Formats: sequence, structure tokens, C-alpha cells
Amino acid sequence: MTEASNSQAPADPEFYRSLPKAELHLHIEGSLTAERMLALAERNGVTLPYAAVEDVEAAYQFDDLQSFLDLYYQGMSVLQTESDFYCLTMDYLEVCRREGIVHCEIGFDPQGHTERGIPFATVVSGITRAQDDAHAQWGQSSALIMNILRHLPVTDAFDAVEQARPYAARISAIGLDSSEVGFPPEPFAPVFSAARELGWHCVAHAGEEGPPAYVWGAIVDLAVDRIDHGIRSDEDDALMDLLIKRQMPLTVCPLSNVRLRAVPTMAKHNLMKMLQAGANVCVNSDDPTYFGGFLCDNFAAVARDLPMTINDAAQLARNSIRSSFLTDSQQQPILSNIDRWLEAQR
Ligand code: ADE
Ligand code: ZN
Repeated sequence: MTEASNSQAPADPEFYRSLPKAELHLHIEGSLTAERMLALAERNGVTLPYAAVEDVEAAYQFDDLQSFLDLYYQGMSVLQTESDFYCLTMDYLEVCRREGIVHCEIGFDPQGHTERGIPFATVVSGITRAQDDAHAQWGQSSALIMNILRHLPVTDAFDAVEQARPYAARISAIGLDSSEVGFPPEPFAPVFSAARELGWHCVAHAGEEGPPAYVWGAIVDLAVDRIDHGIRSDEDDALMDLLIKRQMPLTVCPLSNVRLRAVPTMAKHNLMKMLQAGANVCVNSDDPTYFGGFLCDNFAAVARDLPMTINDAAQLARNSIRSSFLTDSQQQPILSNIDRWLEAQR
């Protein structure tokens, strides 16, 4: 290892653009820019409590997950046509191109749209058309994760899986999101079994605001391949031992955790402690336009307040690739490019 790779990584988002990495925890509705939201509101005749971009940004002050979700569901009301979902997704895929996100696994919340009368087909068609165009235009690799809203009944989750059946080949995984505390994962076990029968991977938000018991529930009852967030896992030694032994991926979202007050400050975030302990953590942006930064901003924010060497940054990028749904043969050249990036940092 070179001396330079042991030095503190820079708190500059630009530095991380050339680092090949994957983003595995991104809600496409949470990547809606203020500009796009206002333009779509006007085009679709939706009334929002904001007149200008500055009003939107000023409103994004959150006390907790629920205070964010209230604005997140309001924001997605501007998404109505296939073209709206296409533009939303293309905006994010352009960010991937700019930020060196060589592969992304995009979450979407179909129930947040079908509940408002938007057909499932409209949502999936717009998103997948953007994925196809980005792949054709610059080789962007991406996958799709259908998230289930856990605050809604289990029967609604089954309906969502049924509606997804015709598009099953375009969806790689089922996920579980929305309000966490009071909505444990276990009741969704039969839904996750049905998804597994469709050949999908399984992921779930757990341990963001909820207790370690929810992480256990996601692992034992939902048999997930990955945990989204998982930051409260370190309150339970036996759980941490299991996560490390199984190398269970934790898709951590540093800026999100600070903005939603899941952690008091970035300096108190446990990301680097978990990495040093041997946990399979990676960095993600969650809802970047709501939380003040895309993926490179998250790396830079970590570097600003936590001990993160350049070598650690490369390890976080390796973890993101290894934890993705890409096959080993797809992962190998990217991992080699991460090694090359690290060598170039001398
Ligand atoms: N939906 C969008 N972002 C979320 C988050 N951080 N936690 C739970 N549900 C979400
Ligand atoms: Zn999330």
C-alpha cells in the first residue's frame, strides 16, 4: 500500500468522480430536483406550496424520517405521465454518468403512484425506457428495485407484486421502505417469498430509526440479501458479529442519516467504525435532492468529519460493487479499475 493511500481522503466531491463505484440505495422519487418538480407541477396543473427553487430548498428541514416522508410523498404528486418518470430517471442517470457511478440499483415506490391513480405500467415504462436509453447512449449499467411501503397493509404489498408480474424480468429485487418504527418487517415475509419465486433478490430498510430487532427480522424472516441503512445494528453485539461473519451488505446513507437526525452529527456517524470492524458497508445517497447531496457529496461529507483514508474510500467502492446484483464476471473489471484508481493516487 502506498503512503498516499493512507492519508486522509479529501473533502472535495470532485475527487470521488474518478473512483468507479456503485450506488445501491437510491429512491428515484428522492432524486427529483426542485427545478424538475416545479416544471412538472406547472405542466401537470399540480399545486405545490412552493413558488421558487429557494422555497423548496428552504422547506427541506427535517426532524426525523416521517417529517421527510410527508414532503417526499407530496413531491412525487407531480409525477403523472410516462414522460415524467422518464425525465426523473434520466436526470439521475446523468448524475451517474457525471459522478463515476458505473452501476446503480434504483429503488422506486409503485404504491406511492398507484395510490394516486397512476397506472403501474406508466411508472415502470418511463423508468425502464430511461434505463435503456442511458445504456444505449453511454453504456450505463442499472437495475431496478421495487420497494414496498411498509406503512400500508400487507394485502396492498401483494397487489403491488401482482401488478409487477408482467414486468418481472425488468425488476431485480423487492425492497421495504417508508415509516419504520411501528412497522416491523416480519408481516411482509409471505410477500418476500412471492418475490423470491419471481427470481428477485430481497432487500429491506432496517435499523435506520428502528431497533436492531428489525434488522434481525429482515435477515431471519425476509431472508434479505442486503440491509438498507442498518446503522443501529451496532447496538447489538451478536447482530454485528452475524453481519460481519456473513458479510451482509449495509447500504449506509451518511447525509440522509444526519439530515433525518438518525445520528446527531457526521462526526458521530458509525460508518467508519463499522468499516474498521470488518462490516460490509458502502456509501449511498438515499434521497439526494432532499438531503443536500449526491453520491460524491456523501463521500466528501464523510471525509470532512470522519477519519477516512483514500484506501478506505476505495474499500467502500469495492464493497458497493461486491454487494451489487452484478455477476462476478461483471464485477471483476470494475474491481480492477478501482485498484488502478488507487494506484493512480500516489
Ligand atoms: N423512502 C425514501 N427514503 C426513505 C428512507 N430514508 N427511509 C425509509 N423510506 C424511505
Ligand atoms: Zn432509503
